[in-house]
Amino acid sequence: MDAFDLVIRNARVATAADVFSADIAVRGGIIVALGLGLPAGQREIDAAGRYVLPGGVDGHCHLDQPTGDSSRMADDFFTGTRSAACGGTTTIIPFACQAKGGSLRAAVEDYHRRAADKPVIDYAFHLIVTDPTEKVLTEELPALIAEGYTSFKIYMTYDALKLNDRQILETLAVARREGAMTMIHAENTDCIAWLTDRLLAAGCAAPHFHATSRPMLVEREATHRAIALSELVDVPILIVHVSGREAVEQIRWAQGHGLRVLAETCPQYLFLTADDLERDGFEGAKCICSPPPRDAANQQVIWDGLANGTFQVFSSDHAPFRFDGPDGKKASGADASFDKVPNGIPGLETRLPLLFSEGVNTGRLDINSFVALTATNVAKIYGLYPTKGTIAVGSDADLVIWNDRADITLTNAMLHHNVDYTPYEGRRLTAWPALTLSRGEIVWSDGEMVATPGRGRFLRRSRPGPAGVRRGGYAP
Ligand code: URP
Ligand code: ZN
Ligand code: ZN
Repeated sequence: MDAFDLVIRNARVATAADVFSADIAVRGGIIVALGLGLPAGQREIDAAGRYVLPGGVDGHCHLDQPTGDSSRMADDFFTGTRSAACGGTTTIIPFACQAKGGSLRAAVEDYHRRAADKPVIDYAFHLIVTDPTEKVLTEELPALIAEGYTSFKIYMTYDALKLNDRQILETLAVARREGAMTMIHAENTDCIAWLTDRLLAAGCAAPHFHATSRPMLVEREATHRAIALSELVDVPILIVHVSGREAVEQIRWAQGHGLRVLAETCPQYLFLTADDLERDGFEGAKCICSPPPRDAANQQVIWDGLANGTFQVFSSDHAPFRFDGPDGKKASGADASFDKVPNGIPGLETRLPLLFSEGVNTGRLDINSFVALTATNVAKIYGLYPTKGTIAVGSDADLVIWNDRADITLTNAMLHHNVDYTPYEGRRLTAWPALTLSRGEIVWSDGEMVATPGRGRFLRRSRPGPAGVRRGGYAP
C-alpha cells in the first residue's frame, strides 16, 4: 500500500457526536484512516492538539445571483468561495433562481455558467421556484430533483419572488412526491407593503424604518401559515433566517406537535439589532436584511434555540452588496428610501469564527453542537452526508484546524469577499481557522489564501434522509 498522501498528526477531532484524539490520514482527497500512531504520509501536518473540525457547510448563501434590478451582487463564485474557505467553510449551497415567466432549467444552466471555472471549494445549488407553472411542477422540478438539485427555496414576500398560498401548496406537493426539502422565507407580504406605504407617506424613509416595516408579527404570521401549509400537504419544511421569539414559538409549537419543521438562523440575529440600522446617515443600510435584526432579548432567544435543538442549521445568508458604488446598497441613490435598498448582508467568512468565538468559547454551545449546526446537520438535510459534514473514514478530507485562542479585532480589510464592509467591523474574535483543507488540499494556511480558482467541484445531492413520520396529511 502506498504511503498516505497526507497525515494530520495530534488532532483533537470533534464531530457532531464525539471529541477524540487521533491522526487523520488522507489519500486521494478522502479520509482513509483515523487512529493513533498512523504510518507516515508523504506530507505531514502537526495539529499540535488543536481542534480539527469538519469543514463548514454553508447551506444558505447568495453568489452572483441575478437581482432583476439595478443592484448587483458583489461576490462571484471565485471571491465568494475564497472568502468561505478563509473562514473555514468548504462547501456552499447558493441558489439558482428562476425568473418569473422563465424556465427553472434555464436558471440552472445559467448558474452553472456563472460558476464555471471559478469556485475554490465544492458547491451545490438549491433552486428558487418563483413561477410554479404546470411545466415547472410536472417536468422541470421533478427532473432537476432527480438530477441532484434536491432542495428549493420559496418566498412568501418580494414581488419578484413570492408565491401565493395556492402556489405554495402545489409546490410543496411536488416536494412531498419527489422527496425534496423546501426552504421557506416566511414574511407576510401584504402586511409589509401596507406598512411600507404608510411609513413612506409619513416621510419615514431612513434605513431604520426597514425594521419598522417588518415587525416580528409579520414573520410570526407567515411562519405559522407556512407550518400549516406543510402540515396540510404532510411534507417537511425548513424555515430560513429566523430572527426572534415569535417565529421561534411557532416553530417549537410545530416541533412539539410532531411536525417535521426544521429551522435555520444566521449570525445577524445573534450579533446585530435593529439599533444597527440607526447608524449615522445612510450607514444603517449596511445592516438591512430581511427579516431584520431585532433586539437583545430576541438575540437571547436565538442563542437558546441554538442550544436547545430548535435550530438545526446555522447559515450565513451571505447576500453581498457593496455599500459604495452604483450597484450596491446605494443602487437607488445615497439617500434612497429603505424599500429601495437591496436586502442582505455579507457573512460567508465570518459565520464560523463568530459562532465559535461567541458560542463555543463562551460556553453557550458545546463543540459538538457547533459542528452539528454548521456542518453535519446541513449536510444531512441537504443530501451531502457523509461525503461532507463529518470526519469519518470515507468522507471527503474537508478539514479545518482551528486556532481557538486567537485575539483578533475584525476589520473588513482582513476578509476575502468583494464587499467593501462587514457589519461586524471592530468586533473581537477569539477563534479563526489556522488551516482549511478541501479534499486534502490546503486552501487557507496561516493567513494566506492558496487555492486555485476552478478546483471546486459541483455536487449532485441525494434526497434528504427520512424526514420524520408521515402523518398522512389531509389531501385525498
Ligand atoms: O435580506 C436577505 N435575507 N437577503 C437575502 C435574500 C433572502 O431572502 O434570503
Ligand atoms: Zn430569504
Ligand atoms: Zn438568503
